[in-house]
Amino acid sequence: QVPSAAEIHELMTGRIAEFPDFPEPGVLFRDITPLLADGPAMRKVIAHWCSLLPADLDVIVGTEARGFVLGAPLAYELGIGFVPVRKAGKLPGFPRSVTYSLEYGTATVEIAQGAIAPGQRVVIVDDLLATGGTAQATAELVRDFEAELLGASFLIELEGLGGRDKLADLPVSALWSIPN
Ligand code: PRP
Ligand code: MG
Repeated sequence: QVPSAAEIHELMTGRIAEFPDFPEPGVLFRDITPLLADGPAMRKVIAHWCSLLPADLDVIVGTEARGFVLGAPLAYELGIGFVPVRKAGKLPGFPRSVTYSLEYGTATVEIAQGAIAPGQRVVIVDDLLATGGTAQATAELVRDFEAELLGASFLIELEGLGGRDKLADLPVSALWSIPN
């Protein structure tokens, strides 16, 4: 009784708010707050999402900040570990770090040293695949641990921005693919 893709689409359409010209002109911002605030809807999303992920996963890797609120319940439901990818300067010790380009400037993502063991089976989770820069940098980080990166999975994919192409041969799934 895993909720169907159609049921999930319907539920997401009503619970993801659209804000034009945020955070800058020309961008249509999708706000997942109404979905997060709806417990029964979230349980359906997580149940459906679990059914899309590869079997025998060891770790979900989720990107700060919205990848945390979606990745953690997925990992909990699957009974596996969650490893946070943090923005620069938040992790103590000697985290692994990758810097990537944004439209303006650069960003850095980090994972704590030793957080993923070599050979662990990993999927990257985030709320949104847009240009793919964040996921690409995260993939580079995960591979640096010599983990087995099996794919990347998103709540929403903005198809027009070419994120999937940037992830090259990595299998990509999304609960909801929209043109832009
Ligand atoms: C957003 C979103 C994804 C990323 C997608 O994160 O949550 O992580 O951008 O964009 P990309 O595919 O072009 O890299 P953002 O860092 O803006 O904010 P957050 O901290 O709220 O997750
Ligand atoms: Mg994010």
